[in-house]
Amino acid sequence: MCGIVGYVGRRNAVSVLLRGLKMLEYRGYDSSGVAVHNGANLCVVKRAGRLCALEEALSTREVKGSCGIGHTRWATHGSATDQNAHPFVSSYGKFAVVHNGIVSNYLQIAAFLRERGVSLASDTDSEVIAHLIDYYYTGDVLSALCRALCDIKGSFALAVISVYEPHVLYGVRKDSPLVVGEGKKEFALCSDISGISDFCSRFCALQNGEVVRLSEEGAALFDFYGNPLPMRFENREKELFEDREEGVDDMLSEIRSIPASLRLGFEKFPKEELRAFLKEGFKEMLVLGCGSAYHAGLVFCEAMREVAEVCVRAEIASEFLTEKPCVGEGTLVIVVSQSGETADTLLAVERAKKCGAKILSVCNARASSLTRLSDFSLITRCGRERAVAATKSYVSQAQYLLLICLEYADITGKTNIDEVARLRREISLLSQKTESICRAEKRLEEVALGLKNAEAVFFLGRKGDLAAAKEGSLKLKEVSYLFSEAYPSGELKHGTLALMEKGVWCVVVATDPSLLQKNAATLSEVLCRGASAVVITAGSALEEAPADYVVTVPEADPVVSPLFSAVVMQYFAYFAAKARGCDVDKPRNLAKSVTVE
Ligand code: G6P
Repeated sequence: MCGIVGYVGRRNAVSVLLRGLKMLEYRGYDSSGVAVHNGANLCVVKRAGRLCALEEALSTREVKGSCGIGHTRWATHGSATDQNAHPFVSSYGKFAVVHNGIVSNYLQIAAFLRERGVSLASDTDSEVIAHLIDYYYTGDVLSALCRALCDIKGSFALAVISVYEPHVLYGVRKDSPLVVGEGKKEFALCSDISGISDFCSRFCALQNGEVVRLSEEGAALFDFYGNPLPMRFENREKELFEDREEGVDDMLSEIRSIPASLRLGFEKFPKEELRAFLKEGFKEMLVLGCGSAYHAGLVFCEAMREVAEVCVRAEIASEFLTEKPCVGEGTLVIVVSQSGETADTLLAVERAKKCGAKILSVCNARASSLTRLSDFSLITRCGRERAVAATKSYVSQAQYLLLICLEYADITGKTNIDEVARLRREISLLSQKTESICRAEKRLEEVALGLKNAEAVFFLGRKGDLAAAKEGSLKLKEVSYLFSEAYPSGELKHGTLALMEKGVWCVVVATDPSLLQKNAATLSEVLCRGASAVVITAGSALEEAPADYVVTVPEADPVVSPLFSAVVMQYFAYFAAKARGCDVDKPRNLAKSVTVE
């Protein structure tokens, strides 16, 4: 998965492309590159490594032109080298292409091209696209592109320029997102709107099977066979909430903005619309998501069991894709995704829909592929999240999922009105109570410094605390590279206890007052075997526990507490990663939006 951008207009393409790539770096940062039509040739500059390597290379070369394409890469086929960086050009520099997605039949296409004398310079699946278009070119670029598209299998968003048309940019979409933007006598293409929203005022999210041709004459839309389609642009609502601190890592700034996004989320929750949708009635529910979004789903399952007395499954989207789909008519599938573009999640949604299930999405991107596939969407209000590790989006997802649980419990009458009102009030206090956690940032940093050299960190909990522990563990490993695992406390004695010794740390998430004795026992079990421990508790006797650190979160109903513990553990992850010298916003090997299966 990668980020692609394209521009045609009157500005200097390089600076527009670089600005766009900066916004897209979250999609991958193994290499980057640009290709610009300089009036005579296609001029290509690309470098392995972060965007700054490309910027440096461009600072020593004059690349002039007002039509170009750019790419930032998350390596899937071929390692992160200059050679494997996009854009790719065809043999005599006639076509340049940037690609997001995977060409699943690239080996066959490569063999086809080699038999015809084409030599390939990279190990990627993407390079064949440029050569294939060139191979089919007989005087008309659009026809050559469409002909090539008939041969390519897999998922792809493409931006293409050619030496034959100095002021024309093409975009293609099949199963990978691509947005067209219109400015003042200029057009742009981008994997997401953020990379071009500073100068574009109208947008068109391409649909699967569409090709767009952008030039001074305007924007023209076609299907893959070159048949014209009506062009559609729409105005886009500006981001409603963007709370960012200058000079602070994105991850830290995003954690600190959680209270504000919770407040806005609560205010904007479309309760009546959701109730109308839920009133349709469903036989069963399933939650789908990946990474942190899946973990937010676990918080929901726990709440549904406790509050609505309904057993709900949460499944990792990629697993759902490989199992027999146990969904059908009458199933409500709640799909959780920050970006709304995660490939596994989207494929899982398509599968569930085919089986007749209804889709309710909880998503942070209003005009995403996921919201388009959904029967009803709830848009979380945490604003754009830039750091690869989800923080504020996870908390906003969990907040909205808890609100869904309450509405469901209310509609079905499973929970009495007073109890629903009490829990609603608890959720309304989330923002205020999280502020107190953020105020204790210094203390959380101290704890993180304590565990920064741990040989391994185990996150232990039961019920909702276990759901939070899973997210805490994911956060720590992804940004600090410390080995970590989340484990149900009660299962420790069936194997994992063998790993407890000096140098190992345990974070015991123990906010549920009904589990006080059990949590105290867990703590003793790990401490007496030499492990160090951090306890996260909520105003219980565990505040006096003999752990290395005790962190107290605000008291709340056990279905709500996981949100507080998660924020505490986000801080642990951030400060431990900083202390270990890690790039917290762009952890190695990862990307924010995983648009490949
Ligand atoms: C990536 C991100 C995670 C995120 C997951 C799901 O792995 O690094 O932070 O939780 O994708 O993303 P989504 O956009 O679907 O929530």
